[in-house]
Amino acid sequence: MNKRTLGNDLSVSAIGLGCMGMSEFYGPRDDSESLRVLARAVELGIDFFDTADMYGPHHNEELIGRFLARNKPQVRIATKFGIVRNPGEYRRSLDNSANYARSACEASLRRLGVEQIDLYYVHRINPDEPIEETIDGLVSLIKAGKIARIGLCEVSADTLRRAHAIHPITAVQTEYSLWTRDVERDVLSTCHELGIGFVPYSPLGRGFLTGRFQDTAELSEGDFRTKLPRFAEGALGTNRRIAEVIAEMAVQKGCSPAQLSLAWLLSKGPNIVPIPGTKQLRYLDENAAAAQITLSIEEQQQLESATERLPVVGERYTVEGMKGVNA
Ligand SMILES: NC(=O)c1ccc[n+]([C@@H]2O[C@H](COP(=O)([O-])OP(=O)(O)OC[C@H]3O[C@@H](n4cnc5c(N)ncnc54)[C@H](OP(=O)(O)O)[C@@H]3O)[C@@H](O)[C@H]2O)c1
Repeated sequence: MNKRTLGNDLSVSAIGLGCMGMSEFYGPRDDSESLRVLARAVELGIDFFDTADMYGPHHNEELIGRFLARNKPQVRIATKFGIVRNPGEYRRSLDNSANYARSACEASLRRLGVEQIDLYYVHRINPDEPIEETIDGLVSLIKAGKIARIGLCEVSADTLRRAHAIHPITAVQTEYSLWTRDVERDVLSTCHELGIGFVPYSPLGRGFLTGRFQDTAELSEGDFRTKLPRFAEGALGTNRRIAEVIAEMAVQKGCSPAQLSLAWLLSKGPNIVPIPGTKQLRYLDENAAAAQITLSIEEQQQLESATERLPVVGERYTVEGMKGVNA
């Protein structure tokens, strides 16, 4: 797979792998199958795995740790700290303090079984803690060799500038897809201006843009998406239209809706590395092949104008989930 560079020096496959769903949020997990997906990803040249301490917690980092211990692959690991969850609950608080970063980092290193984390993100910004102090804490971790680079999730352009002034930020990770384009307001241009990479999460709209999940009944019990406003019974009817338009345009392009959605993100800039999530081999193969698809300017514009005039009903998170978004 072709490579892209995040920030100054993080060279990774143009498409990474989101590992969250292998542990939680999107229906039942199957560790054996997930380990096969991780192995296949490496075969396909995907060398950028995305996890966080709060996925599972802490099953996702442990699963990746098992895979790394067995296979010793050449992959870059990105993980995150800062969201503190009560065991068994989605409810959370945010802690960006240097002390917490140090202990969270030690715990992630232990679970992953690595000596250094390639990219360490602040998972959500706590507006009550000065970002400068958080970055100072992370710089201490760089000096100690525990992490190689710093990333920020769901950060506002202003906070990003303040953080970058203290230490270069390698990547911003925020939701970005054909139905969530908020970052185009100012975050994406700030990344371009400052030479910061951008990692779109939920690039397939949590699967919705692929044309699956046309009905909430298709989501298994306990699936996190059943609680999201955009997947609510009353919203789906309207939101379905965007998936239909993507499907129609994918037929014209001769690819799948998932591939078109990923190719569009790749077309938005050379510093963009989407991380579609899957726990299924067939989807992994399909998504990886999107790295070969290029869109002409006309195709890009057609897709944008056909989708941006469609209304999207519902916030992307619940009130709890919106804590620390664009902070
Ligand atoms: N920083 C943050 O706050 C944050 C928040 C959310 C996610 N993330 C990261 O971003 C990664 C990706 O986001 P995401 O997993 O939320 O959403 P996503 O990649 O937009 O969608 C994942 C969903 O799409 C399905 N899917 C994947 N490829 C498909 C295909 N080709 N055809 C049909 N369905 C397909 C998956 O199914 P299966 O599960 O059946 O494979 C899963 O249900 C996560 O794994 C996580 O690492 C970060």
